[in-house]
Amino acid sequence: MTNHGLFNSAVRMPEPKTLGLDRLYLERSLHNGLYHGTDVDGYLDKALRSMLVRTEGPVLEVGCGTGKFAHYLSTLTDRQVCGIDIDQNAIAVANQEYGNVRNLRFNVGNVYDLNKNFSEVGLVSTMMSLHHFDDLGEAMNQITGVLNPGGFVLIHDWERGLALPDIENCGLERPVMDELYGAHAASEQTVNETIRKNGLSDDPSILTFFSVLAAYTKKEVVKALDRLGFYSETTMVLGDAKFYLAAYRANPLKRTIHGLCDALYDTVGSRITDYWIAHHGFTTGTRIDIEKELGLKPPLVNFKEK
Ligand SMILES: C[S@@+](CC[C@H](N)C(=O)[O-])C[C@H]1O[C@@H](n2cnc3c(N)ncnc32)[C@H](O)[C@@H]1O
Repeated sequence: MTNHGLFNSAVRMPEPKTLGLDRLYLERSLHNGLYHGTDVDGYLDKALRSMLVRTEGPVLEVGCGTGKFAHYLSTLTDRQVCGIDIDQNAIAVANQEYGNVRNLRFNVGNVYDLNKNFSEVGLVSTMMSLHHFDDLGEAMNQITGVLNPGGFVLIHDWERGLALPDIENCGLERPVMDELYGAHAASEQTVNETIRKNGLSDDPSILTFFSVLAAYTKKEVVKALDRLGFYSETTMVLGDAKFYLAAYRANPLKRTIHGLCDALYDTVGSRITDYWIAHHGFTTGTRIDIEKELGLKPPLVNFKEK
């Protein structure tokens, strides 16, 4: 336990499945704003375009929810894009909203069954879904298993090791959080009872709370991919405990190690992150130096100036 008494960032706590958070496709209200019109867009857009020109084959979005990100992918390429999700209601909404898009389709599907249904995929993305996948090793095994030899993985999710502020600010009162944390350690039934007792059944804070507890650390994901022979490049979203990770098969040619997310963007992102982590802030001076040095505006500018 940390001295906050609530959140032990060293230990992942899977989501209570009986709450159905893994199928809450209405989470889209929380996610829809994420990839459009924010400062992160430039980075994501660039990284995706960079990956798409370096590989061939269809694109797969795992845990696509109601399909907004899969649709965004379909605008970046003429290739076939497929979104899969275990929630048939989410897939129904996705089909309703984007059914007319020529190179986009949606199917009900489980991350753990990918190899039965797909092969020779050029890019697998999973946006804010990883924390729902309790078997990280098998999820990565399935995701990397469907890729063609030059294929890429793109992951975006919370970073549990840095997520304490997200927990603190999730909107729940501290005593309630303490109670929920204890309930989580006891049983799913206790969690359900605690939620009902506190009148939180429709409270979106619950979603953030349990999702963050269930998140992985960037390091855990990099390790899982490394075991499968994949090399990862990562960067953080500044001021937010979320990471981007792009991975591809490590090979003797060390192909495009820095080509993937764009060398400059990746360097800038990592350096800002290190600084941010070390100082819990960001100074104007650092930003100016980086801009001057690399002739670029840092891609991740959602920071709070000290
Ligand atoms: C937080 S939503 C993310 C949706 C979308 N990618 C976005 O960013 O808005 C997570 C999604 O993962 C799906 N999911 C959970 N477990 C899954 C599994 N085992 N296989 C496939 N999808 C899963 C859920 O149904 C949910 O729609």
